[in-house]
Amino acid sequence: NHNPKTSIVLFGATGDLAKRKLYPSIYNLYITGKLSEQFVVIGIARRPWDDQTLRDNVRKAIEEAHLPTDNIEQFCNHFFYLPFDVTDTKSYQRLNQRLQELETEFHIPGNRIYYMAMAPEFFGTIAIQLKNEGVTQSDGWNRLVIEKPFGHDLPSAQKLNNEIREAFTEDQIYRIDHYLGKEMVQNIEVIRFANAIFEPLWNNRHISNIQITSSEVLGVEDRGGYYETSGALRDMVQNHLLQMVLLLSMDPPIRLATDEVRSEKIKVLRAVRSISSEEADDYFIRGQYDAGTIQDHQVPGYRSEKNVNPESKTETFVSGKLMIDNHRWAGVPFYVRTGKRMAQKSTKIVVQFKDLPLNVYTQKNEKQDSSIHPNLLVIHIQPDEGITLILNGKKIGLLGETIPVKLDYSHTSVDGVNTPEAYERLIYDCMLGDATNFAHWDEVNLSWALIDPISEAWSDSNKDIAKYEAGTMGPIESERLLEKDGFKWWPLEKL
Ligand code: BG6
Repeated sequence: NHNPKTSIVLFGATGDLAKRKLYPSIYNLYITGKLSEQFVVIGIARRPWDDQTLRDNVRKAIEEAHLPTDNIEQFCNHFFYLPFDVTDTKSYQRLNQRLQELETEFHIPGNRIYYMAMAPEFFGTIAIQLKNEGVTQSDGWNRLVIEKPFGHDLPSAQKLNNEIREAFTEDQIYRIDHYLGKEMVQNIEVIRFANAIFEPLWNNRHISNIQITSSEVLGVEDRGGYYETSGALRDMVQNHLLQMVLLLSMDPPIRLATDEVRSEKIKVLRAVRSISSEEADDYFIRGQYDAGTIQDHQVPGYRSEKNVNPESKTETFVSGKLMIDNHRWAGVPFYVRTGKRMAQKSTKIVVQFKDLPLNVYTQKNEKQDSSIHPNLLVIHIQPDEGITLILNGKKIGLLGETIPVKLDYSHTSVDGVNTPEAYERLIYDCMLGDATNFAHWDEVNLSWALIDPISEAWSDSNKDIAKYEAGTMGPIESERLLEKDGFKWWPLEKL
């Protein structure tokens, strides 16, 4: 059944995520025929809105996302609002009653998604109350979608997990990592497992290092309060960057089934070398943005942002090295780098192949430096989507010099294809009951165990944090991290 009949109970219906991502995504699913008319969204939040206020806001969100608005009236009629107090049992009873009424009216067979898009401190309470008040006892299936942050460190993540596990089984829980919904992140598996030319080379005999960058131009905007308790390591590395490392490094799954893919990811994650607090500085460096110029605009430094401590040591940039101690990857560094207020908004993966055992073109390239360009496979995740393969070709002329040439594949140049938003895909996957692109508890558990000693080392350190000027690619320490190993970050704008 490709038109799942579902009720979505959206906690945090008045929030920013709902407006920016969820309403436009659900609307896209609707206009592309992936939702039947048999769906409802019950928006939940504390504010005393009514159905009409919610609908007005949904409409506004869709207009702001510049989507075609022809079907908007009809779409909005599927939205209902319930003012809610998450600590009051009566709210849950009212919700259950409202769900039953709407399920009857819209012919929905009791399939319910509870989507947590609000302050994480309530995730556990809500899950338990949903169970205690019988909301999750409907005739159809019940699934819990949970947004990040999934905890703040290992103990808090375990506590949260124990709470939600009181009410939902692991296979009812969909932990969102929106990077797993991105078109080109999903393409990593296809590139690796559907092409005969890559997988044989995908190991430490042929790859020298892999570089993953997710840079942002924006600062912390109005999220200073959250970001001060998080920082780039927890905000981006523990989840998004690590997930990309796993997709690049896992063994081929025997089938593309959820459990098979997840067990390969978990297996390789267990092989990622743990880093003790004492070793943290050898593997990870951090930075914080200072004032600078971005696209001709002066922007303030992190410490002058709203809700940020003027002496804050929170990192807005991280650059790190992960080693995977298994047969396939021993000796191959996976470098990850992310930050706010960098030179460009861009997520790219660069796979660098080893040099040839012998270079017969010595002295014949234009720089006379006897080196030929390493082969690179570049996976462009965003904003452009595609693949570039950098090879060496013959430079036109008489001397037989080599020159790097690019083979470019642009994923979005396929005619008339409007690549769906990450959230659109993930919400739809959840409706279909496919949890492959969501994080299993074991992944979350192991990833916090990996990250915690590094954040502890940083919070205990009395060294001041390295600064970088806004609009650059981070502090000089980030370059040194690779230089130590004889590598350099490839300049993204040239790839
Ligand atoms: C979120 C982080 O998970 O990812 C944000 O909390 C960050 O700080 C965002 O800006 C980046 O996502 P994207 O899809 O814009 O790369």
